Amino acid sequence: MSSTPNQNKVDQSINDGGHVPDDPLTDHAYDGIQEYDNPTPGWWTYLWIATIVFSFFYWLVFTLAPKDAGYATRYEIAAARDLKKTFGELGELSPDEPTLIAFLTDAEKARWLKFGESLFKNKCSTCHGSEGTGINGTNLTDDKYIHVKQLTDIVDVISKGRNNGAMPKFESKDLNPTEMTLVAAYVASLRGTNKPGGKPAEPNAVTIDPWPTNRPVSSAR
Ligand code: HEC
Repeated sequence: MSSTPNQNKVDQSINDGGHVPDDPLTDHAYDGIQEYDNPTPGWWTYLWIATIVFSFFYWLVFTLAPKDAGYATRYEIAAARDLKKTFGELGELSPDEPTLIAFLTDAEKARWLKFGESLFKNKCSTCHGSEGTGINGTNLTDDKYIHVKQLTDIVDVISKGRNNGAMPKFESKDLNPTEMTLVAAYVASLRGTNKPGGKPAEPNAVTIDPWPTNRPVSSAR
C-alpha cells in the first residue's frame, strides 16, 4: 500500500478522533504500517547512556574491590572480640580441680556456668540432650558415672573421648582451656539435679563420692 504522508495523516486523523501528530513519517513501512519519526527525548537518551556508563564502573568496582566480609562474618568477628573481652575478665582458665570447685561454689563465678551451658547446648546436646538427661550419650544429671570418679575425670573424658569415640574427643581447637573449664564445671553442676525424663543409668555406671566441696552447688544456674 502506498499513501502520501499527508494522506496517511488524514487517515490517522479519522481513526483517532482528530489528533494528528506533528512528527514526520519515517520512510520505512512494513505491510503498510508506517512509523512516525518520533525519537525518544534527548534527556531520556542521555540518562540511558549514563546508566550504561555507570554500570560499567559499578561492575569494575564490584569486581576489583576487596571482598567485603558480609554481615554474618562481621557479626562473628564482633562476637569473638566481645567474647575475648569477656574472657579477659575471667583470665585464661585451666581445667584443674581447684578451678572447677571454684565455679561450683563461688556464686560470683557460678554465673559463668551459663556460658558453660551454652557450650554444652552447642556441642554436647545432640547426644546428651539439651538438659543433659541423655539420648545416646549418658544421663549427666544423676549420680552415677561410668568414667568419672573425680571432677578432673570429666575433663579427661571430654578431651580424650571414650568407648572408641562413641563419646568423641574434644581437642583444644574444639574447646579452648577456658571453654573446657566452663563446660566441665557445667557438667559437674548437673550432677544430682535428676532432671525429669532422664535416661536410666548405664548398667556399668556406679554412684560416686560427692564432689570435694561441702557447699551446695550454686543456684545461680
Ligand atoms: C556423639 C555423641 C556424643 C557427644 C557429641 C558428646 N558425648 Fe559425652 N558421651 C557419649 C557417650 C556415648 C558416652 C558414654 C561412653 C561410654 O559408654 O563409655 C558419653 C560419656 C560422657 C561422659 C562420661 C559419663 C560417665 O558416665 O562417665 C561425660 C562427662 C560426657 N560424655 C560429657 C560430654 C560433654 C561435656 C560433651 C560436649 C563437650 C559430650 N559429652 C559430647 C556421647 C557423646
